[in-house]
Amino acid sequence: METADARVESASAIPSTILVVDDNEANRLLAQQTLEDEGYRVALANDGRAGLAAFEKEPADCVLLDVRMPELDGFAVCERIRALPAGKDVPVIFLTALRDVDTFDHALRAGGDDFLTKPVRPTELVVRVQTALKLRQMDARLAEHLALLKHQRDALLRVQLQKERITAFLVHDLKNPVSSMDLNAQLLLRERGLSETAMASAAQIRTEAKHLNRMILNLLDVSKGDEGKLSPKRTEIDLRSMTTAVTGELEANAKSRSVTLDVVLGVERVRADDDLLRRALTNLVENAIRHAPTGSVVEIATIRSAGATEVVVRDSGTGVPAELREKIFDPFSQVEGTGRPDTRAGRGLGLTFCKLAVEAHGGTIVVEDAAPGALFRVRLPDER
Ligand SMILES: Nc1ncnc2c1ncn2[C@@H]1O[C@H](COP(=O)(O)OP(=O)(O)OP(=O)(O)O)[C@@H](O)[C@H]1O
Ligand SMILES: [Mg+2]
Repeated sequence: METADARVESASAIPSTILVVDDNEANRLLAQQTLEDEGYRVALANDGRAGLAAFEKEPADCVLLDVRMPELDGFAVCERIRALPAGKDVPVIFLTALRDVDTFDHALRAGGDDFLTKPVRPTELVVRVQTALKLRQMDARLAEHLALLKHQRDALLRVQLQKERITAFLVHDLKNPVSSMDLNAQLLLRERGLSETAMASAAQIRTEAKHLNRMILNLLDVSKGDEGKLSPKRTEIDLRSMTTAVTGELEANAKSRSVTLDVVLGVERVRADDDLLRRALTNLVENAIRHAPTGSVVEIATIRSAGATEVVVRDSGTGVPAELREKIFDPFSQVEGTGRPDTRAGRGLGLTFCKLAVEAHGGTIVVEDAAPGALFRVRLPDER
């Protein structure tokens, strides 16, 4: 397949030359084949020094540079190319396996124009090379505009990489201490002769640790969901044991507010992702308990409806005003001034996670007026 751009270039004059510098043979050959198929001339170099020598001998129109190479790495090669008269403006695209913000910043500092992470998809490679070459041909004013756009794209990519770092931080550095807090509180609770207050404190630590853990997992999955990476692993779920586990986990919360949890199972089994459904249900029941009036009942029901299984969580609290019924599913959205100061607990990610988890199953989640109170209805369509 030859694109219009490459054809124009090759028809108008000599085809553009792309210098590919990579110590990995397979990568070199893949780039060569992809680019030659598009009508480019390709020069290959198998390490940094050879790449630099090749460029000095015959300056290419664009350079693809692997970052990690023995001796002279990609960054160093780029800096040296930039110091050559012919290398001042040549587009340099880095190829790297390290998708992180430091590598990205380093690539920009070394004078790179673009940044591709491995494994490189052939179509993406071609598009990036075309863009880089075009940018160089543009007249100065257009180039300025494009440079501005590129700057904005770089800023966006930077934010994206920062976000990935935060996510990794959450997984590794926050989850473990939180689990260990919960475990230690459990150990304390097993001690004989603990005073009432110490027992209550340990129980409170457990409740808070579990909440913290839920928030971490929600945040993680919300960021995965943004990137479309939340894919459910369906198994046959026993709804009786799942609801028992969920009410068990939140029993202490409910008790401290004198709220009773009532489970009505119209359906006993559903095929869904155990972890995602369990956590969605936990978030809904936790919200319901938090909004339920003292001494009231929170009802959890499973219902069979046309072509779907529904899971419903209902409380008799303040409910959600009609104009906010869609908005509360947005990330970080919390309803202000519901009266009780203790109705805001987390960060407003619980329902965002629920929506992503349910939609990953092809389902829907809505909130209705339970007059009084809120009724959250999760609808999981049967698998086809
Ligand atoms: N059962 C309910 N009754 C009334 N309002 C609710 C109910 N459930 C949720 N809301 C409203 O929707 C908002 C968003 O809920 P969500 O679960 O996303 O966040 P949160 O509970 O405030 O914090 P998090 O779940 O992250 O700990 C809540 O802050 C609350 O204002
Ligand atoms: Mg919540």
